[in-house]
Amino acid sequence: MIKSIKNICCIGAGYVGGPTMAMMANKCPNLIFNVVDINKERIAAWNNEDLSKLPIFEPGLKEIIKNSRNKNLFFSCEIKKAIESADIIFISVNTPTKTKGLGAGKCSDLKWVETSAREVAKFSKGHTIVVEKSTLPVRTAEVIQSILNSTNCNSSSNKKSFSVLSNPEFLAEGTAIKDLESPDRVLIGGDNKKAMDLLSDIYKKWVPEEKILFTNIWSSELAKLTSNAFLAQRISSINSISAICEVTGADIREVSRAIGKDKRIGSKFLDSGPGFGGSCFKKDILNLVYLAEYFGLGEVAKFWEEVVNINNWHQKRIAKIVVQKLFGTISGKKIIILGFAFKANTNDTRESAAIKICKDLIDEGAELIIHDPKVSSLQIQHDLQTKPKSQINEKNESSLNNKLGNWKFSKKLDIFENAHAILVLTEWEEYKNINWESVIVKMAKPAWLFDSRSIVNVELVKKAGFNLWRLGDGSQKE
Ligand code: UDX
Ligand code: UDX
Repeated sequence: MIKSIKNICCIGAGYVGGPTMAMMANKCPNLIFNVVDINKERIAAWNNEDLSKLPIFEPGLKEIIKNSRNKNLFFSCEIKKAIESADIIFISVNTPTKTKGLGAGKCSDLKWVETSAREVAKFSKGHTIVVEKSTLPVRTAEVIQSILNSTNCNSSSNKKSFSVLSNPEFLAEGTAIKDLESPDRVLIGGDNKKAMDLLSDIYKKWVPEEKILFTNIWSSELAKLTSNAFLAQRISSINSISAICEVTGADIREVSRAIGKDKRIGSKFLDSGPGFGGSCFKKDILNLVYLAEYFGLGEVAKFWEEVVNINNWHQKRIAKIVVQKLFGTISGKKIIILGFAFKANTNDTRESAAIKICKDLIDEGAELIIHDPKVSSLQIQHDLQTKPKSQINEKNESSLNNKLGNWKFSKKLDIFENAHAILVLTEWEEYKNINWESVIVKMAKPAWLFDSRSIVNVELVKKAGFNLWRLGDGSQKE
């Protein structure tokens, strides 16, 4: 076993690997961090002199990158070199839901984790601590350990050995830097005390010791899945109640406030919205469902699957309401979509509710103009699987050979001319300050505003003359 840590490698420079290593590098200036990735473009973006061109947008990220990059934090595609010199290796690659084969649609595809483990087995030297950073199905550590043990890469001059630890990351996008700076807890799962201590020494540089929890490896893996499942379950719960509010005359904001005052429930994660998105919630719940089914726990599987089912239903419900309110047809009507990211303060659109909702509205014949301050038109094109009809205020950056879709993209907010409706899907700060009086004069009448995030000022919107629909607002009951 190594005595101390000097060189750290992270495989995967994504939404988790990039910010996590940047924070560690800032807090541990004496350690060297090599973040490697197979994606050359992504690495080039991490190395871009212009910090506004980093591959991910995250408040506070630029500053910590500036502090450490090319001092003790390096981004490259030199995977072999980084593994060779590493005392500790974080595996932070993506683990999408399998699309075919056994467990398709539910369990995670571990092919990237497996590839990473094989590379570690091949290139590592001496003793290496291998840390699962990606969220993984329970018992993945076993798979990693057996790949590391069975790959016959030992030689007389290089005796290799490994300790596998689970150290799931709990950061949320949009608040990643804050979450990394002062985490609620750091979880380290494993059975090798020395390796666990060495990893916790890194965190101890800025995280109070009482926040560092040690568990066995399976508890650590399961705790991460459970944590995401509980959070997602809260959102499905509140969104299901918002539908009841709309038909009974109750108001979801008042209900959330009232129940959140109960300390046992707590006030966080009770905002009803267009349905949860992001790369983790759905995937992790489906992993849990798969695990339960695998072990013959059908009722448990059904319980958790319903959290995802309600979310899908809820997203469909919003598109239907828009159609109903616009006299049952949106064919040829211009609808402005405000926000495409799955939440504010990120450029990430993975599993964003906007994808399904926009597709449904386009299928109904609407003409969409989509605005988002951080998401690119190209990303939206990937998500909607169609090319925009044209770009507004931006050159067409697309080179993909997709068919045309009935949508346009705009980086600016001067898009309301002749629009029939506006639909707020992401809670970006700038949408809170829109001057509704000047917007409505440009729009077709009656002008509708659908607010799925409860961010607009109701009085001002109504005073301007809008027909307003808000999620979970029963006062609008007909
Ligand atoms: C997250 C979380 O880490 C994880 O918990 C969850 O399971 C999946 O998504 P994230 O950082 O958000 O990961 O993923 P992503 O932004 O896709 O980054 C993963 C990176 O790994 C990509 O840049 C990809 O190019 C890289 N990668 C993938 C490798 O470097 N090597 C591989 O073999 C595969
Ligand atoms: C989540 C977990 O919060 C984090 O701990 C884990 O590491 C990764 O998964 P993330 O997906 O980045 O983080 O964002 P989160 O803030 O959890 O939001 C997820 C989705 O839930 C978003 O679409 C968001 O808009 C939605 N949400 C969140 C609500 O609709 N209402 C809320 O009250 C909170």
